[in-house]
Amino acid sequence: MVNFRLPGPTPLPPPVIEAMGRPMIPHRGPVFRAFYTDLLRRVRAIHRTEGDVFIWPASGSAGWEVAIVNLLSPGDRVVATVCGDFGDRFAKAGLAFGLDVRRLDVPWGQAVTGAALAQALEAHGPVRAVFLTHNETSTGVTNPLRDLTRVAVEHGALTMVDAVSSAGALPLEMDAWDVDFVLSGSQKAWMCPPGLLIAGIGSRAWDAHARSTFPRFFWDISAAKASAASGMTPATPPLTLLYAFDAALQLIEEEGLEQVWDRHRALGHLTRTGLVEIGLELFADSAYASDTVTAFRPPAGTTAGTLIDAMRCDYGIELQNGQAHLADALVRVGHMGWAHASELREVLVALAAYLDIQRSPGHGAALTTAR
Ligand SMILES: Cc1ncc(COP(=O)(O)O)c(C=O)c1O
Repeated sequence: MVNFRLPGPTPLPPPVIEAMGRPMIPHRGPVFRAFYTDLLRRVRAIHRTEGDVFIWPASGSAGWEVAIVNLLSPGDRVVATVCGDFGDRFAKAGLAFGLDVRRLDVPWGQAVTGAALAQALEAHGPVRAVFLTHNETSTGVTNPLRDLTRVAVEHGALTMVDAVSSAGALPLEMDAWDVDFVLSGSQKAWMCPPGLLIAGIGSRAWDAHARSTFPRFFWDISAAKASAASGMTPATPPLTLLYAFDAALQLIEEEGLEQVWDRHRALGHLTRTGLVEIGLELFADSAYASDTVTAFRPPAGTTAGTLIDAMRCDYGIELQNGQAHLADALVRVGHMGWAHASELREVLVALAAYLDIQRSPGHGAALTTAR
């Protein structure tokens, strides 16, 4: 069996696969309404919110758009925090909708700190919202979300949080941390196939929504709220994916949310210490290293692509390369969702064996001769 260690999509637990075999039911009927009402209640609990949560058939990227068109208006000034490729895309989504986007860029591999955000907010004057990436999947950095939302709120800005690779794995307290809008995708720590966008909407977000002037239809959170009040969705729901999500939530509930957070903390630690022990260089600032994905540099003389091919062909392990300008300079190991210590140890053993071969005398010569 392949040891599938991408930072998304992630492996599917057997109960999730099994749940997808459930039959179709009428999506306006009583069974669906009871099912969906209960599902949303459980998703709220995991987001630690008394506010609203809604689910759409979409990938995570649609969440940026849902946040923008529902909470903002053309020309609104926002600060977009960027420490990697996903923060960059969130900022670009803002530009595409004609927002006045002020970027706070930090070098990739580092985190956006509360102090840096405070400075940016003071420099740019009143802003309507701050775009935050909780866990920057492209670099393996977890930003200090609580510090960032505190600073944003002190400056009167809404907090829009991309939690695509953190929700369901890393501590995230929507209400206690003043998160106004949070988005995630089913294919990450939620242990489901790609295809569900999950969004949480807090009370300040509804005030902003009342003032927002963007046109919207499919993504309208008012429509989602009105339908959810009677256990439904505005359009046909992706039943099979919702069944998968139901089974995945049950696994999280059985393990306990805080135990899930602890497991991820332990997996992050195991992965990072193991990689360093075998002589690989981690990319992220160690103070902000992510417990859902770890990025490391391929050894000198090798590219990410070569290493990933070797892991796939020789060891049956799927790893992921970096993104954008770091495509060939980083290798990423996913350890979120249905992930366990034994699978990460297998990755470390395989990488150690690969490194031994790379370092063995004559290896370079053999390569040269082969060419
Ligand atoms: C932090 C983050 N944001 C957004 C996305 C985009 O999600 P999707 O590919 O589901 O559209 C990803 C995908 O990996 C992500 O990791």
